[in-house]
Parts: sequence; C-alpha cells; structure tokens
Amino acid sequence: MNILKFRVINKIAETKESFSFVLKPLCEVPPEHVPGKYLPIKIRTGKSLLFRSYSLSSAAAANEDFKITVKRENGGRGSNWLCDNVNVGDLVETLPPAGEFYPQNWERDFIFFAGGSGITPVISIIKTALIKYNNRMKLFYANSSKDSVIFREELKELSLAHPERFDIEFWSDDEKGIPTSSAFEQYVDDTSEVEYFLCGPAPFMGGVENFLIESKVPPGLITKESFAGSVSDDNGDKNESKEKNFAVSVLLNGSRTEVMCSEDNFILKEIINAGVNVPNSCGAGNCGSCMCSLLSGDVVLEENTVLDPSDEEDGWILACRSKPKSRFIEISFDE
Ligand SMILES: Cc1cc2nc3c(=O)[nH]c(=O)nc-3n(C[C@H](O)[C@H](O)[C@H](O)COP(=O)(O)OP(=O)(O)OC[C@H]3O[C@@H](n4cnc5c(N)ncnc54)[C@H](O)[C@@H]3O)c2cc1C
Ligand code: FES
Repeated sequence: MNILKFRVINKIAETKESFSFVLKPLCEVPPEHVPGKYLPIKIRTGKSLLFRSYSLSSAAAANEDFKITVKRENGGRGSNWLCDNVNVGDLVETLPPAGEFYPQNWERDFIFFAGGSGITPVISIIKTALIKYNNRMKLFYANSSKDSVIFREELKELSLAHPERFDIEFWSDDEKGIPTSSAFEQYVDDTSEVEYFLCGPAPFMGGVENFLIESKVPPGLITKESFAGSVSDDNGDKNESKEKNFAVSVLLNGSRTEVMCSEDNFILKEIINAGVNVPNSCGAGNCGSCMCSLLSGDVVLEENTVLDPSDEEDGWILACRSKPKSRFIEISFDE
C-alpha cells in the first residue's frame, strides 16, 4: 500500500461530538494540500483494519497545516475510534489525498449547501477563495442544533472580515425544522454563472439537488460530495442481463448475507444493490473504504491505487474493483 505517515500535532474539540486533528506529514515529499480533497485514514481497531475518508478542513493558502475534522457517527467504528484513541504525538497513516470536490473555475461565484460534518471541505474551499481569488460566496449551513455547528466562530469571522464577498446562513433543524425548497429559494442565481457545491447527509443533499434541478440549474454547475458512499448506477455495470451465477457470501458486523453476482460486474455494486450497506466511498479503487478480506474463493482484482501484490497475498481485496472468478466466494468486512 502506498501509505503516508503523519504526526498529530494538535487535537481540537470542535463540538461535543467532533474533533479536529492537525497533522504534520513525515514523508520527504509532502503530499499536495488541495482544498476539497480527503485523506483515506488507516484505522486498526483490535483485529480489524479499516479505511475511512476525512476531508481536509484546512487551507494551504492560509499557511495552515493539514487538518481533518471527525464527527462521531452513532455506532460507527472508525469515527469513534479516532475521537477516543488518537492524541497529540500519535502517528496517523493514510493513503494519498483523493477526491474531486473542488471548483472547476475559481473566478466564478460559489454557493455552498453544507449539512453537519459536510462543512469540512467547504471551509477549506472558502478560505482558499478568500485569500487567492476575488469571487463572491454564499453558504447555507444546516445542522440538527446550534450545539453541533462545527467552525461556527471561524465562519462568522471570515464573513465579518469579507462582508462584500462571503455571506452565511446558519440553519438549525431544532428551531426551524428540516430545510425544504422555500429555504433554498434565495440561493438560486439565474443572472450569472454560479457554481453550486453540496456536501452533507444524503437526504439533505438529495433535497437541495432536486430543488436546483427544478430551478433549471445546469447539472454541470453542481458539484457534490457524498459522505455516505457514492457507488452510482453507472459504476462498472457492464452487463445487467448476464446471468448472476456467482455466489458471494458477505460477512458484515457479525452477520452473513448471500449475494448473487454476474462475472462482468464489480462485487461492491452487486452487494449495494442487494441492500447490504458495506463501507464504500470512491467506487474507483482509490480510498480503501471497501477493503475486505477474501476468506475463500477467487476474484479478479482490477487496477487500483490502494493494494499492492503483497496485500493481495495477505488476502485483502477491494470490493469496488473485484469481479468474481470462482463460483463461491466468501468475503469479510469484519477482519
Ligand atoms: C469523501 C468523503 C469525505 C468524508 N469526510 C468526512 C469528514 O470530513 N468528517 C467526517 O466526520 N466524516 C467524513 N466522512 C464520513 C467518514 O468517512 C465515515 O463514513 C464516518 O466517519 C462513519 O464511519 P464509521 O467507521 O464511524 O462508521 P461505520 O462503522 O462505517 O458505520 C456507518 C454507519 O453504519 C451504522 N452501523 C455500524 N455498525 C452497525 C451495526 N452493527 N448494525 C447496524 N448499523 C451499524 C453506524 O451506526 C453508522 O451509521 C467522509 C466520507 C467520504 C466518503
Ligand atoms: S470504494 Fe474506494 S477503494 Fe473501493
């Protein structure tokens, strides 16, 4: 694996359920610190090995170190482990930064819709734009309550320092209810070409996206980052009509599900279609989220940037880049 090492040089409690970790790269050539990218963090919890993605919440343009911000997920293995166990002085291992959640054109005006921890890549882009460019930006930032707003003071300070260029609306569900179309209306600008950025929980992003499409915003001007896995319908589905005669037994959280697959489709897609919610993110072999161990049977592992031949010898595969080779396959997301 192409693993990078970082030292934790600060740990900041942002809210009662989220922490930021400031990271110093320990490699000779530090990775590029690009706003909107994420670090796939390697997490060892007991016997398990997981990768979980966390967006960079700092900006190199502001001379800031690498920083990720982790919000605890109720019952989540990786986020709680990081918040409880990683401290200043510890080593953190990651895959190289990945992701495509960044502006196509920094000269355009930007409108952001962020929900909860979805603010992390957004604040990095906002800070970068305020320092390096001249565009105007608006942020609609929704949270379940005021207590869970990450970076509230920092965002307010940025807006006060740049009143002509950056506006924020903080939205609390416990005061105003779940935001619907009427909350978003003032954010559609049909007078100029604006780029829209959506990041947060799936229902929030879905609501905003439907509204933008109904408002005739061209899909090419909408950039999205889903924190809940992103394997889409067009991800490697070469032939839906091929017979599904490869049986894959999937172990997740101690329970087993049998999924039938065809030889032309990636296993992850078939597992998700069968309604089994296994970890995944990029769907393209770059983040390690879907890494699992091959307990029996054989797969064809296609090109990826995560695993090298020795990892394969150790029995690791990526479900998003593996197609079935033998009739019976057993994989585990619990190892
Ligand atoms: C590109 C990208 C960027 C991201 N950036 C950030 C970021 O900046 N900050 C951030 O906080 N997050 C971010 N995330 C989300 C993050 O990667 C993790 O998905 C998140 O922290 C949850 O991981 P986990 O291991 O804690 O949860 P998991 O263990 O993967 O659990 C996920 C969900 O499944 C449920 N679950 C777990 N075990 C069981 C069980 N036995 N039965 C039923 N349900 C169960 C959990 O309750 C939880 O809701 C990002 C995700 C992506 C894809
Ligand atoms: S989902 Fe990212 S490597 Fe498989």
